[in-house]
Order: sequence, then structure tokens, then C-alpha cells
Amino acid sequence: MHTGEVMNGNEEMGTEMRKKQHLEIVAKKEVQHKTKSTGFDDVELDYNCLPELNKRQIDLSTEFLGKKFKAPIMVSGMTGGAEEAKKINLIIAEACQELGIGMGLGSQRAMIEQPELKATYDVRKIAPDIFLAGNIGVAQLNKYSLQQLQKMIEDVQADALAIHLNVEQEAVQPEGDVDFIGCYEKIKDIAQNLGKPVYVKGVGHGISGSVAARLNKTKIEAIDVQGAGGTSWTGIESFRKQATAGITYWDFGMPTAVSIIQCRKNFNKKIIASGGIRNGLDAVKGIILGADLCSTAYPVFKAAYEGNVNTVKQVLEQFIEEIRIGMLLVGAKNIQELHRKKYYLLGKTLNWIDQSD
Ligand SMILES: Cc1cc2nc3c(=O)[nH]c(=O)nc-3n(C[C@H](O)[C@H](O)[C@H](O)COP(=O)(O)O)c2cc1C
Repeated sequence: MHTGEVMNGNEEMGTEMRKKQHLEIVAKKEVQHKTKSTGFDDVELDYNCLPELNKRQIDLSTEFLGKKFKAPIMVSGMTGGAEEAKKINLIIAEACQELGIGMGLGSQRAMIEQPELKATYDVRKIAPDIFLAGNIGVAQLNKYSLQQLQKMIEDVQADALAIHLNVEQEAVQPEGDVDFIGCYEKIKDIAQNLGKPVYVKGVGHGISGSVAARLNKTKIEAIDVQGAGGTSWTGIESFRKQATAGITYWDFGMPTAVSIIQCRKNFNKKIIASGGIRNGLDAVKGIILGADLCSTAYPVFKAAYEGNVNTVKQVLEQFIEEIRIGMLLVGAKNIQELHRKKYYLLGKTLNWIDQSD
């Protein structure tokens, strides 16, 4: 176990510098959950060895918040706000446009604070047709007006706003924004008045059923669970100076499979399966557990950071091909049929669900 102090974490550090640090840490350090898995190993599917389907004719297309997707997958919000981030965003956007899938931008806090950084998020030129989500942190909602958020979304021509619920990350940052009082009312207000669909997302520690039940009473249109088992944001923070509590809370949170099942039970709108989605079988399991589509961050980040549009495309094409294979193996000719397929829960995940409300 490391001792935390790898990067220089100056408390006065601006958003742009912090973003650069995060990208470097994710690229160079081991930042995945260690003792907690997504729970997908505890999910087994009914194998249909007489499917009466042609693999090539399986229809992967779906719709999310008014936009069509050629496959039920999007790239989770990651970057923006630094020159390196611009390159990564453009690579991801081009791959998503070619594949007809969705993309999230990273936190746009940097471009509110420094409008000249807008260009680092500006991917519409290269991806005119994709579903594109803007992004802001829950802790920043107390600082920005509705008009500032509307402008932030308009400036990048996003289709929706994702509000990330990253309490765990802010809590372990020495300079974190830790005043969450009134955030639920703020989310309600933004969802009601933004003029674009609003959804909430985790950042790798999940969203519980009880939070989903509260969000269900708002105009929030989707939950992107971003559960535990993949990238750990407390883990990432622990590599920054004075954020050693991130080591203690490295594996904190709701495993992705548990988060999907709990949210499905308590939230009757769209759900995205995410957090540790590492292959097409994870995606298929997530959709059978109750999600409408899946999203992934880390594998795409690595492919973009170390490679180019083609390496990102290869990663995403592999996901898509594996989703198609999974659909054949459970006998689903389209996403609607996939939703209705049976699953079996085993072990620790069953234990969590048995004790859930
Ligand atoms: C390099 C990087 C930067 C990220 N930045 C943001 C961000 O700005 N806003 C956000 O909501 N989530 C951010 N995330 C979190 C991801 O959207 C996702 O929730 C998390 O990485 C878990 O998914 P994964 O296990 O597939 O990586 C970032 C993730 C990575 C890897």
C-alpha cells in the first residue's frame, strides 16, 4: 500500500492543474478497486443453446434521452479543462461518432471558472450526431446559477447534463468542496428548469436504492450508477498529497451489480450500468439486471491516452461485438428482449440484495 504523497497536491491548486494531475495518476498508477468487485461474477445467465437467431441480424440499437444509439453503450464523462484533455476528448468523440454511440464530457467546472478552456470540451464539430452529456459536480451546484449551467450546456451543444455525485471524492480531498446542504433541492430545481434532460451519475462508488427513491420524485431522467468494482476515485485522490484518507476509503461504496438492482427497484426511468464495465458480458449482465444501456470509462481513457482514434475504436468495437455474442447466447434479438432475460444471483451479491430494502 502506498503512502499517499506521490503528486504535489497544493491546497491552492486550480481546477485545471488538478485535472492534469488526475489524468496523470489514472494513466500511471493502479487505480482500480482492490477488494471490492462489481458483483458481476455473482450474476449468472440462462444459456439458450437453441436460440433460433442469426448473430448478424441481432439488433443492438437503442434510444436514450431522445437520441438514437447504434449499440447500448456510451463513454462515461472524463475529461476537459486541460490541453491533454482536449486531445483525449476529440479522439473519443471521433470514435463515438463513427460507431454511433454516446459520450459524456468531464466536469465543466474548469470552463465556468476559466471560459478560455471551453475549447477543451468542444467536440460537436467532430461528433455532430452523437448523444453528448455535459457534466458538473454536485458540490459545485451551490456555487453556480441556473443561467451559468444553461450557458455551459449551450456552449458545448450538449444534449443533457450529468450531475456527478462524488461526495466520497470531495470528502477525502484536503481542498474538497464539502458543503452538500441543500443539494437535493438544487438538483430538483435544475432538473425542472434547465430546459434539457438532467441525469445523475456516480464516479465509481455507486448510487444506493434509497438515493434512487429520492431522485425518482424529481424530474431527473436517468441514473448512471457508476458503481464500485472498477475505477476508485478515493483511490485516485490518495495519490495526491494529504489525501491519504483515500486509502482507507479506497473500496468504499455499492458494487455495480447491487447498485443497478437497487436503483431499478426504486427508480422508474432510465438506468445506465456502469463502474467496472470491462467487456461486453458485463454490459449484457448490467442490462439484464435492469439497466437500459451501459457506459465505461477507464479502458477508453487508457486507449485514448496511449493511442489514437483507432485504438479507442478497437476497444469499443470489441465491447459491441461481445454484447452481440451475449445477446445470441441468451437468445435476445433486440434490447427489449434482453431486458426480459432471466438471471441468477449468487454469493455476496445475493447477500447484499437479500438485505436491501
Ligand atoms: C481519467 C478520468 C477522469 C474522470 N473525470 C470525471 C469527471 O470529470 N466527471 C465525472 O462525472 N466523472 C469522471 N470520471 C469518472 C468516470 O466517469 C466513471 O464514473 C468512473 O471512472 C468509473 O467507471 P470505470 O470503472 O469504467 O472507469 C473520470 C474517470 C476517469 C478514468
